[in-house]
Amino acid sequence: MDENLAGRAVSLWIATAGATGYPPLTADVEVDVAVIGAGIAGLTTALALKRAGQRVAVLEAARVGTGVTGHTTGKVTSLHRLVYTELTRSHGAGTARVYGEANQAAVAHVARVVAEEEIECDFGRVANYTYAETDTTLPLVREEAELAARLGLPAAFTTEVPLPFGVKGAVRFDGQAQLHAVKYLQGLARAVHGGGSAVFEESFAQAFHDGSPAVVDTGMGSVRAREVVVATNTPFGDQGAFGARCYPHRSYLVASRTEGQGPDGTFISVDEPMRSILSIDVDGWHYVLVGGEGHRVPAAGDTTERYRRLAAFSRDRLGTGDVAFRWSTQDAMPVDGLPYVGRMSADVSHIFVITGLRKWGLTNGTAAALMLTDILSGRRNEWASAFDSTRPAPRSAPMESREGASGAEAAGGPKPGEGTVVDIAGEKTAVYVDPAGGVHALSAVCTHLGCTVEFNAADLTWDCPCHGSRFAVDGAVIQGPATRNLAPRTEAGLHNPPA
Ligand code: FES
Repeated sequence: MDENLAGRAVSLWIATAGATGYPPLTADVEVDVAVIGAGIAGLTTALALKRAGQRVAVLEAARVGTGVTGHTTGKVTSLHRLVYTELTRSHGAGTARVYGEANQAAVAHVARVVAEEEIECDFGRVANYTYAETDTTLPLVREEAELAARLGLPAAFTTEVPLPFGVKGAVRFDGQAQLHAVKYLQGLARAVHGGGSAVFEESFAQAFHDGSPAVVDTGMGSVRAREVVVATNTPFGDQGAFGARCYPHRSYLVASRTEGQGPDGTFISVDEPMRSILSIDVDGWHYVLVGGEGHRVPAAGDTTERYRRLAAFSRDRLGTGDVAFRWSTQDAMPVDGLPYVGRMSADVSHIFVITGLRKWGLTNGTAAALMLTDILSGRRNEWASAFDSTRPAPRSAPMESREGASGAEAAGGPKPGEGTVVDIAGEKTAVYVDPAGGVHALSAVCTHLGCTVEFNAADLTWDCPCHGSRFAVDGAVIQGPATRNLAPRTEAGLHNPPA
């Protein structure tokens, strides 16, 4: 870890939300629907199903909100940079319209749930902007605004952009929102738990089985259910081949304190390097969040430099103070640009999935949950066919197995605070040296499908370049699709410190 990197390495949302304490699953239970994953997609689905009269059980491997949703920017919007231009070109105006309607409905749904469940999550209505800083990109935002307006969305082109630096123009969506992501999830969990439904934390779903009933096993107990929903960002297991139909994309955020309130609205740039901006007050402090530096996994270059560039942008362009929090996140990007919602594969009857939320999970995840709730309630959903999870993969899915692509092996040993992959006795070994000089040696073979993990110096994790699994330096799974920890390699002749 770079000691000079400013801020705590934890998301603002996770650091400032209270703790939850739902019990683990320690017995066998029977419900109507089992939901794996207490993020935005899982909890929104669970609550909507409960409100429709079904008994649900939510299984969360860690704590509510500690996964990908807990690392979001907090934007609740149907304007996703230039998505309507992109989708109109790739899928046609009809699909772009459906995407917009579904995401607008998601914004409205979140607002309604916040009000009805009285969730205190710093929810606020804002305008959302995609802005252009150059004459080259100005026509792009003008085109997006015109196109989105024709699709019936609340879009307008504007040159009045409330940012403290020079901007040529922007597409503005009115009536959008932002919130404290983890407080919102905790509110959803509170509403789900009780009355025949339950949230189970620290309950790692190890396997699921299709059938009547379908079954989810955690090792400590199982859930028997009519249907199972896998809402774990990237689904675990290789049913449905989502590893080939999504690719992992990582981005970084810094949250800095400011004297006054930050810019009024949420923003994303068209120009590169892309920057995403949001201002929010939490616990009496003004924060400005800046995100960006995104890249497909595996990473190129020093991840610590990515945080430094975001911090410099925040300070120089937005006048913020020191970085208080910094974090990174990985999302599943669908290769054809549309999330996947529905049955996990054409071969299963009772296992359903939500994935490929393309970094706009607060709305795409909510929209997906509403679609799935209709599907599981036997209601027709007019958006669902565009997002059908069993649609054929594009012929040239770009994200194939990238075994061997990392080039991560190094001849020299790592210094304290560093990690590297070395070949020991013919086996790829992930070696991390902690700041005190303790050596932690693990198998470098990802337990999902066998790619070689790589060290992430800024976050102190081992990350898999193939489908995005992440592991702590002690080998514990942080993010799937892997479900098993990296195996310790004490036989490698290196000395692991005591746990
Ligand atoms: Fe699939 Fe590692 S995440 S092989």
